[in-house]
Order: sequence, then C-alpha cells, then structure tokens
Amino acid sequence: MQQATLFSPDRKARLHSALLTWFEQHRRPLPWRTDYAPYAVWISEIMLQQTQMERGVSYFQAWMERFPSIADLAYAEEDEVLRAWEGLGYYSRARNILRAARTIQAEHAGLFPSAYRDIAALPGIGPYTAAAIASIAFNQDVACIDANVERVVSRLCDLDVPVRRQPGKALLAECADDLLCRGRARDYNQAVMELGALVCGRRPACPVCPLQSFCRALQHKTVHLRPVLPEKTASVALTIASGVLVSGGLLYIQKRLPNDVWGGLWEFPGGSVEQGECPEEAVVREFMEETGLAVRVTDKFGCIRHKYTKYNITLHCFALALADKASDPCPEPPHLCEASEFRWCTLEELKDHAMPSSHRKLAKTLSLSGDKLSSSLSGTPHAGERSLPGLLSG
Ligand code: ADE
Ligand code: SF4
Repeated sequence: MQQATLFSPDRKARLHSALLTWFEQHRRPLPWRTDYAPYAVWISEIMLQQTQMERGVSYFQAWMERFPSIADLAYAEEDEVLRAWEGLGYYSRARNILRAARTIQAEHAGLFPSAYRDIAALPGIGPYTAAAIASIAFNQDVACIDANVERVVSRLCDLDVPVRRQPGKALLAECADDLLCRGRARDYNQAVMELGALVCGRRPACPVCPLQSFCRALQHKTVHLRPVLPEKTASVALTIASGVLVSGGLLYIQKRLPNDVWGGLWEFPGGSVEQGECPEEAVVREFMEETGLAVRVTDKFGCIRHKYTKYNITLHCFALALADKASDPCPEPPHLCEASEFRWCTLEELKDHAMPSSHRKLAKTLSLSGDKLSSSLSGTPHAGERSLPGLLSG
C-alpha cells in the first residue's frame, strides 16, 4: 500500500500557491460564490450531486426565488418542494432537504448549524455534503471528496488501487486530508473541485494544468489509468407501458407511495410489460391492478426512451378511455394500490404536479398536441372516448 504523505511541507506549500492562484483566475462566477451563505452552499451542493453545473445553476436560481430562506422552505408543502426539484431525479434528496430545513427551524432557531457534527446529523447530509458545507460555508479544515477530487488526488498521488472501496478509499481520504491547505479550506476545496471539473476531467488537459510539476501520474505516464474505478455494471432493458386515461375532459393521475421509487411524485398508471404480453395488454392489466378501473386503449402515442440508473427504459404510451361507457365520467377508482391519492385534472393543472421525467415528457407531448387535444378534453362527458391525436406516433 502506498503512503499518504507524498509531498514535503515545502512542496505542498508551492502546490497550494499554484492551485489557489489558478482558482482566483479561473473560477466560475457562481451565485453561491458571493457570500457563501450556508443555506445556498447546502442547496447548491445537493443539486450538483444530481446534475451538471449549468443546469444546477438554473435550478438553484429558481429554487432561491421560490424558497428564499430556510424558514420559507421549512413552511413549504412537500408537493411544492418536489415540483421545484422535478427533473433532477432522486427525489428522496428533495424530501430530505425539506426535513433538514424543518429540523434547522425547530432545533437551531432557523440558523444553519456550524459544528460539523450538527451538520452531518441533518437528514440527507452525508460525509461529502457535510465536509463541503463545513469548509465552503464555514471555512473549516475538512477535505471533501467528490468525483472531481477523486480524479485530481488519485492522479496527483498516482494511487494504483480502486478508490471507491477499502482500503483504497481510506488511502484517498488520507491523501486528500494531507493535501488540504489548512486555514484556506474554503478556497482550496473549491479549487480542487474546479480543477477536476475544468482541467483534470475524464480527458485531462495536462498541458494547461497548473499542477503539472506536482503530478505523479503525469510523471509516471499513468494519467489514463487513474483513478482506478470499478467496472461498469451492465445495463438492463426494461419495457414499461403507461396510459393517459381521458374522461369527462379530465386526465387521471395518481401519487406514488412515499417509500417507493419516485415516492410522492404523480404519474400516469402503468408498469412492466410481462413476457408474452403486448404493451396494449400490459397497460390495461396494470390499470386494473393498480386502480380497479377497466380501461380500453384508444390510441398509441409512441415510445419514450430514457435511462434511469442501470436501466434502459422504453416507455410505451397510450391514450385510454373507460371501458364502461355508462359509468360516471370521472369515477373514484375502486381501489388504489401503489398509490396514495388520485386526481382527475386538466392539462393545465398537470404542470403543478411533480412527475418523474419520463411522465413529464409524456405530459409535455400531450400539451404540445394543442388545439386538437383540447377539443378532446373540452369537458363534454365521455370526451375521452374519442381518441387523442396521435402526435407522438412513430
Ligand atoms: N461540483 C460540486 N461542488 C462544487 C463546487 N463547490 N465547486 C465546483 N464544482 C463543484
Ligand atoms: Fe490532472 Fe494532468 Fe493536472 Fe495531473 S497534470 S492534475 S492528471 S490535469
């Protein structure tokens, strides 16, 4: 096993100086990099775990407009918070943000705690986020390790062991801690992350790197081998059928159970297409299983493809009508399993409900179908029996 201490104090001081100078000249002007308010640092760090910087910034700005303070957030409804998070994925993060805001309001008088232990005790705040907040918001001497830091440090120290599991993980942490510029943790940690994002990326730009003369992997010509990561897990194909039930001029949606994937988000019912089943059959069966409502397919919209963790999902989308023409146009479902609530809502009202991104895509396509769709949603009872325009086909 390698030693964590690779750099003499003098060499480290020169490395710090080179890195901090580079950061001063190249740092991106990010909205939370002005006063480093703990609330802003916290929200930005959680968002950046979910998305790239540019998208992160626009979500951040919208979020701060909607919830300008921890108190505003603490008093918000979960639905609103999920809606502001929609599209970032991993919705337990948003629910934990809300729980943490309520904890801060109740236990810390609305002030973000500064002690590392108190920060790390908040819901949804793991070791990385706690270290990022402690150092970036409060300038405390803790190293933080994200994928950027992992690349930079494993290359600088030329770590030849897998760094996401023990013992390599501990070695990486030791190296990161050893390299930390004490007293300047706020700038130093951000500088390492910024270097990992802008220079030492998946295809590192070593010729323009300020740390070239310190980089062991560069000296050893092993840059392309660092960091040592686990092999990618194979992706799994998943075929899902979902249906938009239109009746009485309204659309049927339901809210997923709290502890399920996408818990608390609204969706059009549906599920996996089983062996020997076609997607049309699957959507009718799933609707019956989940709601007790008998439906029939009136139109096929086409397919939406997207990736979720290791899954390659093909979502077949259908327009549906109630099978029983004589029934109440907007009935209460005889039973709900896999959902805690249902609603019959207008196309416009769909916008106010947080949905998984594939269902939002489907909802947007419904909105796009404009005039023709609105005539089939015009409010006449049983309008759903006419098929929706097949704009998604093909
Ligand atoms: N990526 C995640 N957090 C970051 C930060 N604080 N600075 C730069 N890139 C980041
Ligand atoms: Fe990364 Fe290359 Fe700089 Fe080393 S020299 S830190 S590998 S960009």
